Amino acid sequence: MLSIFIALLVNLFIETSVSFSVVVPRDQTVAHVGSTVTVPCWITPPENAEALEIRWYRHDQFSNPVLFYQHGKIQDVQEESYRNRTSLTLWSDQSGGLKDGDVSLRLEKLTVQDEGVFHCYVSGESTYGSEEIVLKVTAVGSAPVLFPQPLDDGRVNFSCRSSGWYPEPNVTWMSDERTVLRPGGGSRRRGADEMFSVHSWTVVSRSDAQLVSCSVSLKTGELKEGRLNIQAIISSDSSDPSDPWKALFITLLSFGLLGLVGLILYKNRHKLTGKKPADENCECGGMENRKGYIKVQMSESTGENASVVGDVNIEDLRKHADQISIDREHLHPGLTVSKDCKIVRDGPDYKHTGERFPYELCAFGAQRFTSGRHYWEVSLARENIAPKNYWLIGVAKDGNFCSKDKSLTPSDSFWFLCSDGPNGFYINSETHITLPLTPRPEQLGVLLDYDDGQLSFYNVKERKHLLTMRTRFTGSVAPLFNPGVGDLSPLKILDCPKPVESPVESSQPLLGNSSDA
Ligand SMILES: *[C@@H]1O[C@H](CO)[C@@H](O)[C@H](O)[C@H]1NC(C)=O
Ligand SMILES: *[C@@H]1O[C@H](CO)[C@@H](O)[C@H](O)[C@H]1NC(C)=O
Ligand SMILES: *[C@@H]1O[C@H](CO)[C@@H](O)[C@H](O)[C@H]1NC(C)=O
Ligand SMILES: *[C@@H]1O[C@H](CO)[C@@H](O)[C@H](O)[C@H]1NC(C)=O
Ligand SMILES: *[C@@H]1O[C@H](CO)[C@@H](O)[C@H](O)[C@H]1NC(C)=O
Repeated sequence: MLSIFIALLVNLFIETSVSFSVVVPRDQTVAHVGSTVTVPCWITPPENAEALEIRWYRHDQFSNPVLFYQHGKIQDVQEESYRNRTSLTLWSDQSGGLKDGDVSLRLEKLTVQDEGVFHCYVSGESTYGSEEIVLKVTAVGSAPVLFPQPLDDGRVNFSCRSSGWYPEPNVTWMSDERTVLRPGGGSRRRGADEMFSVHSWTVVSRSDAQLVSCSVSLKTGELKEGRLNIQAIISSDSSDPSDPWKALFITLLSFGLLGLVGLILYKNRHKLTGKKPADENCECGGMENRKGYIKVQMSESTGENASVVGDVNIEDLRKHADQISIDREHLHPGLTVSKDCKIVRDGPDYKHTGERFPYELCAFGAQRFTSGRHYWEVSLARENIAPKNYWLIGVAKDGNFCSKDKSLTPSDSFWFLCSDGPNGFYINSETHITLPLTPRPEQLGVLLDYDDGQLSFYNVKERKHLLTMRTRFTGSVAPLFNPGVGDLSPLKILDCPKPVESPVESSQPLLGNSSDA
């Protein structure tokens, strides 16, 4: 009888000593798609949770949890979509971890589907507790691309597009950063990845506004903005039919602080599937001169901090660095190339006639790309010599050749940025676009994103993004170089070393998975 009584007492004692409650913060946790988030949860009074069972689950899927910890390790029982993405972590730097009752969840590679309620369930021998915490997921989309379309009545129809947002963003039009403009219409679409794309348009009269801006924002206050100076849009009639670029002349004024201009050329390029013969005469085939559409992407600005906009991390770009060399086999005979195939310039005997840029003086990289991202850098200056005035750098479809008489357009699978001395900088859109690029680049970075159909140029010294052309690449493409005629400096392809990876992460997982424990 007595022994039973004692046993009961002991039992009671144990029970009270292991009684705890589960606590989560009252605020919801907010994080970006793709990021790593810590979902906080702990037990109080603090006690060692190593011997407890910890179960994070969602949607009543108690037996198919996000993470399940038992017998001192994370168990292999897991909802498939969370595999390799979860671990137990420290809620804060001060936390003593599991030993102090911190059972916070670390969740990597956040997706839109992760939004919602998470249950934090902790159970001991004879007691358990459970709490819910809400995870909000957001995604800040791409910088809005503004596309001006002059109307017959002299006004301009601006359209603005941006994608990759979550949840649904709000589009606001402003003129001269003061007046809210009413949108004329628009649409929104939800992609397969659950992200929102938005399109909005508004008609603005030239006399009413200088600067038109389109900002796309989330309720959290995060926003991206595109701006365009309406006065800079000047229609000009093309009087010279031999010049293919004149239907629409857009000069972009760089905004003092922003100091950079991005251009996106956007047009469903007609696809050239047939390969052209590799021929010493450097002929371009199948020229078709069509009026193109231009998408103008001004620098994105986030709130007030416009001055930092456009700064790029060159080290990040160099992660995609490729070793590029000149293809000696397919080279204009007027060019000379160094032994190591890295330096190219106009040869001493080459006689350039006419005033146009010598488009025919093309050299190609020996490398061919059909997917992925590729980055290379070109030096355009030598020490104590001013940067080159004449150059043309970009990519071209494998097998393309350049000729004197023909323009090299995206329809013919050429994409480049050209520095044409006093004629300024331009891209080879089917309409002429000149760009104010100051200072003159000494070192140009080129990023080819084949899959996303983008070709971007960077001023490496200034660490600035200059512009991006958007297109669709088909077949294999090769780097394209043209050193122009008459500069002192040659055009030199640099070997950029890939940066050393140093994975520094702030919150290390305590327990990765069962085999770690
Ligand atoms: C999880 O990681 C393992 C080993 O790294 C891998 O084999 C497996 O495919 C991954 N599972 C998922 C769903 O990503
Ligand atoms: C656990 O991690 C080990 C390496 O630490 C890995 O080999 C294994 O695939 C992982 N298992 C799961 C289920 O993620
Ligand atoms: C403005 O352009 C959009 C397409 O971007 C078009 O749907 C809309 O009808 C145009 N509005 C006017 C008044 O031209
Ligand atoms: C969008 O922004 C406008 C102006 O700031 C505001 O009046 C409106 O309530 C917002 N709409 C949503 C859905 O956030
Ligand atoms: C702008 O950026 C600078 C440097 O990154 C930072 O110190 C400053 O607080 C930022 N200002 C705003 C308004 O975000």
